[in-house]
Amino acid sequence: DKANYRHFMAKEIHEQPEVVGHTLARYVDMATERVALPVKLPFDFNTIQRVNITACGTASYAGFVAKYWFERFARLPVEVDVASEFRYREAPLRKGDLAIFISQSGETADTLAALRYAKAEGAHTVAVVNVPTSTIARESETVLQTLAGPEIGVASTKAFTCQLMVLANLAIAAGKARGELSDEDEAKLVHGLVEVPRLMADALTTELQIEKLAHRIAKSSDVLYLGRGTSFPLALEGALKLKEISYIHAEGYAAGELKHGPIALIDETMPVVVIAPHDRVFEKTVSNMQEVAARGGNIILMTDAKGAEEATVESLVTIVMPDMSAAFTPMVYAVPVQLLAYHTAVVMGTDVDQPRNLAKSVTVE
Ligand code: M6R
Repeated sequence: DKANYRHFMAKEIHEQPEVVGHTLARYVDMATERVALPVKLPFDFNTIQRVNITACGTASYAGFVAKYWFERFARLPVEVDVASEFRYREAPLRKGDLAIFISQSGETADTLAALRYAKAEGAHTVAVVNVPTSTIARESETVLQTLAGPEIGVASTKAFTCQLMVLANLAIAAGKARGELSDEDEAKLVHGLVEVPRLMADALTTELQIEKLAHRIAKSSDVLYLGRGTSFPLALEGALKLKEISYIHAEGYAAGELKHGPIALIDETMPVVVIAPHDRVFEKTVSNMQEVAARGGNIILMTDAKGAEEATVESLVTIVMPDMSAAFTPMVYAVPVQLLAYHTAVVMGTDVDQPRNLAKSVTVE
């Protein structure tokens, strides 16, 4: 049931500190703050030369964030594909390489077909799924469950952040196994993860401000989302979330791609959501924001206190997020991104939990 919420989506957004915390507790030894995967992996990360991550929609954006983590923590090259492309491309997989499939439902037809293809090619298969009895869970070699609980809203929210939590732990485990992370590095990273549920709860306090902002966004016909690093896939997710439930056209871009095309769209009517925690690419994102501001674009900046102070660009609204470890910002910044889509849809009066033309689980290709 919806508890006291108007929509399942609102309930599921608010549940995130709790369910992401449950997922964390399943993958981390909380006493020692070390990664402790609940299953023994049937392969050694040392012999893996490449990882393929395959999923659809929001799950594919979780995979795209994880690419940054695997490459950084474990120096492992990762390819991310949407399942509908991967399955028909006949992508060459090396026997013994690792293929990861991400799916809330575990029933998405294209993701399942991609899993079957990878198995036939002799790859090790890991499924990150929310429904442990699902077909994808049953057919993959290793299952890493997300503990999001049932997700009813068609727009995926808590499944996404739980997927990120599982993938972060897997990437740290890979880094450890490959000798790219020391015990100390691991401890630092895991400590960063342990903080995430509390930070997500902090992030929920931006809701009133976002609700106001939603009235402005609801007047727009197009919205741009920009980010660099792990904020880039989150920009893609933000745009998907907005379009699927509010029916407002939105696009996500790597901030550095702005001047290669999308900047032509910017005028005084265009809201540009910039996801920019104060991380190692922050300065670069600020210069992209300046380009937007110079053309009269309306910037909605999601950053932390330090970022807000150093941004030196006029924004329409700045949403100040808690300070945190730069590695795991996507889980926490997902919250305002989801809230913005949710409240905009509420203002638009759409059917938030059952948006037109969409099904919760896409079991046909
Ligand atoms: O059940 P799955 O995670 O495999 O579903 C994948 C996509 O269909 C799903 O994430 C979809 O993009 C959502 N409606 C996004 O909010």
